Amino acid sequence: MDFWTVRGGKKLYGACRVQGSKNASLPILAASVLAGGETELTNVPRLRDIDAALRILRHLGCRAEQEGNRLYIDARGLVHSSVPESLMHEMRSSVIFMGALLARCGEVRLSPPGGCRLGKRPIDLHLKALRQLGAEVEEKDGEILCRAAKLRGTTIRLPFPSVGATENAMLAACAAEGETVIEGAAREPEIGALQDYLNRMGGSVRGAGTGRIVVSPGRPGGPVRFAVQPDRIAAATLACACAAAGGEVELTDAEPAHFSTVLHFLKDAGCDIITKQRCLTVRSDGRLRAVGPITTEPYPGFPTDAQPVLMAALLRAEGVTRIRETIFENRFRQVPELRKLGADIRLDGQNAEIRGVARLHGAALEATDLRGGAAMLVAGLAAEGETRIRDEGHIARGYERFDRVLSALGAEVRRTDS
Ligand code: EPZ
Repeated sequence: MDFWTVRGGKKLYGACRVQGSKNASLPILAASVLAGGETELTNVPRLRDIDAALRILRHLGCRAEQEGNRLYIDARGLVHSSVPESLMHEMRSSVIFMGALLARCGEVRLSPPGGCRLGKRPIDLHLKALRQLGAEVEEKDGEILCRAAKLRGTTIRLPFPSVGATENAMLAACAAEGETVIEGAAREPEIGALQDYLNRMGGSVRGAGTGRIVVSPGRPGGPVRFAVQPDRIAAATLACACAAAGGEVELTDAEPAHFSTVLHFLKDAGCDIITKQRCLTVRSDGRLRAVGPITTEPYPGFPTDAQPVLMAALLRAEGVTRIRETIFENRFRQVPELRKLGADIRLDGQNAEIRGVARLHGAALEATDLRGGAAMLVAGLAAEGETRIRDEGHIARGYERFDRVLSALGAEVRRTDS
């Protein structure tokens, strides 16, 4: 159990390097088994979800070591094609091992993945894509068994641009005979990272960033060195923290274009945002105005992962902000906790209405999920007095040493384990 203690009211000043992307690293870790060679990754954040992926790799028989932000995988010794339930439950992204192991071994056995409880999170689109590539998929006794003597290239049409289903389809398609076209693919920057990694390995994938991805035959092979891109949601969270608390923060090693929709609303709220190529500065006097309406959408729309932290930044903004969540059915779990700080938030199904209040006051909260927990930290920075967040470990799943990052900017934040 982690306890986060925030004493609000301090403005944030200084420069801070954005961590490497969790959601780009995780599918790449799964993809590393595909070719059966060596992978050296840099800029991989130290996170609980990354540790969980490393445990899966080791269970499969791979060597997997992380030292600081460098990570080494040797997938030559892979001996298993199944992932036990206990490891699958640790995070959602474990499901991406399905496409990678199917491509490498011709079969895979695993159970449905865990991850943040954001409502129903089916994997029907993943399974449908693998079936279309020629896999036999059997779901029995809480287990999923996929087998394919041969995978065949085809056209897969995703009815919704699921990030994970796109990744699984890309990975399985690498081992298919003939070309695979994925129509309606997710366009998130993390898909681009996976494409780049596979191509660096010797694969032939193109189209990432558009809704049409083409995977040509040729199973990737060689050893790879790859640098992971900056984490757009961690960067957005830091920008929201500065907006809420006030101050001036420079984010280095960032990719502002990857979260421009968040920056757009922060600007509208009254922050000064100066972007350079790999760097941005956020300046805020802490007195924001309401923005919007904001609707979460698949990329390049406003990201659902940034919704809780932007909401937290706007709790004291003058006026009414309306947010509509369209990606997950249960992504307002932070709301009852934020209300304990004095926030005025009304919920109506997938819609939230935030009426800015003059002040927030510290309270005892419980982190509900990764981004919800981060939202509570952001709100705590803008609240008077002490906020204490009891956290089962959600925040450390996605934010690297977040207490130290915020403290280095002048915040009073402490994390203790118990
Ligand atoms: C990825 O999850 C991210 N995770 C999530 O990050 C992110 O919130 C999400 O994409 C949306 O951007 C990783 O990259 C590891 P989806 P994923 O498949 O792949 C429905 C974070 O905080 N759906 O695009 O699981 C699903 O229920 C997180 O870092 C189906 O109906 O997201 C959801 O409503 C959490 N059937 C929607 O699509 C399927 O087969 C989006 O899911 C698959 C998805």
